[in-house]
Amino acid sequence: MRVGVLTGGGDCPGLNAVIRAVVRRGVTEFGYEFIGFRDGWRGPLEGDTVPLDIQAVRGILPRGGTILGSSRTNPMAESATAGGRTGVQRIRDNLEGLGVDALIAIGGEDTLGAASRLHEEGVNVVGVPKTIDNDLGATDYTFGFDTAVNIAMEAIDRLHTTAESHHRALIVEVMGRNVGWIALHAGMAGGANVILIPEKPFDMEKVCAYVEHRFETRYAPIVVVAEGARPVDGDITASGQLDEFGHVRFGGVGQMLAAEIEKRTGKEARCTVLGHIQRGGTPTAFDRVLATRYGLQAISAVHDGDFGIMVALSGTNIVRIPLGEATRELKLVPEERYAEAEVLFG
Ligand code: F6P
Repeated sequence: MRVGVLTGGGDCPGLNAVIRAVVRRGVTEFGYEFIGFRDGWRGPLEGDTVPLDIQAVRGILPRGGTILGSSRTNPMAESATAGGRTGVQRIRDNLEGLGVDALIAIGGEDTLGAASRLHEEGVNVVGVPKTIDNDLGATDYTFGFDTAVNIAMEAIDRLHTTAESHHRALIVEVMGRNVGWIALHAGMAGGANVILIPEKPFDMEKVCAYVEHRFETRYAPIVVVAEGARPVDGDITASGQLDEFGHVRFGGVGQMLAAEIEKRTGKEARCTVLGHIQRGGTPTAFDRVLATRYGLQAISAVHDGDFGIMVALSGTNIVRIPLGEATRELKLVPEERYAEAEVLFG
């Protein structure tokens, strides 16, 4: 059996841990051969491969990023058609030519959506969920999220001390796309003055009241804002730029908040955008363990001939769910989780 592996979409810490677990179990327990595809779906589209054996995965467990590279290439897009063949046909031909019997696709909503479509077209695929956003409804957690939250929490801790020295309001913009999980967890763990998330459009008056209250208690406010958050009366977050899957690029809400807070409260306010720092570097222990367990179970699914599934975390167990369900529902922050955080605002 020859198994192909790819990592697609935005990278996150833990991808290498999955690849390592897949290859280690696949080679030692099942005697499989592996081929790595470069840069997400671009690899199988163009037949661009890298050798993948036990030696290639030595020492990669703590390494961030992905040894295979990643991209947001959409194999279903018009642009994937070449030489009169659709993206799906090109992938099928290349897999056949390379003698690949099964494919493990590690990715988020977009990569897994494409994996699901390919499975419908007869490709033997198993999916593994990743994303720092933690926005896949079909799994309790995606790896990468815990690392991103810890990075953001550490940044908030550091910002607290400098905010105190200068009596400033500091605004921290975190990633998360259309959901507020990173903001909610990092803000709670870091003791934010207020947390703003896309699921709950914010009222500028109320935000300023929280900020002023924190100054009154002689403690400098830290406002944690998710990149997709927006005020009740507007939307200033989208840059207008779209990726291959049609997603907008976020950014700008933190700057807007800083300017508005400064104008309305008369206090100095500055913004820090954490950006891709949240996706870089070594994974936390939680993400290493989760990613490793996903990898071990993904290759077991291949061994069982259980294709068209994604591995998922349900409580503390790794389960298998149909790929079609994997991307059906975006996991939003529920009202009650935000209400818990709200108790500590101001
Ligand atoms: O989905 C992960 C993520 O980091 C989002 O939080 C963010 O909006 C987006 O990817 C950024 O994408 P890119 O790295 O392509 O700019």
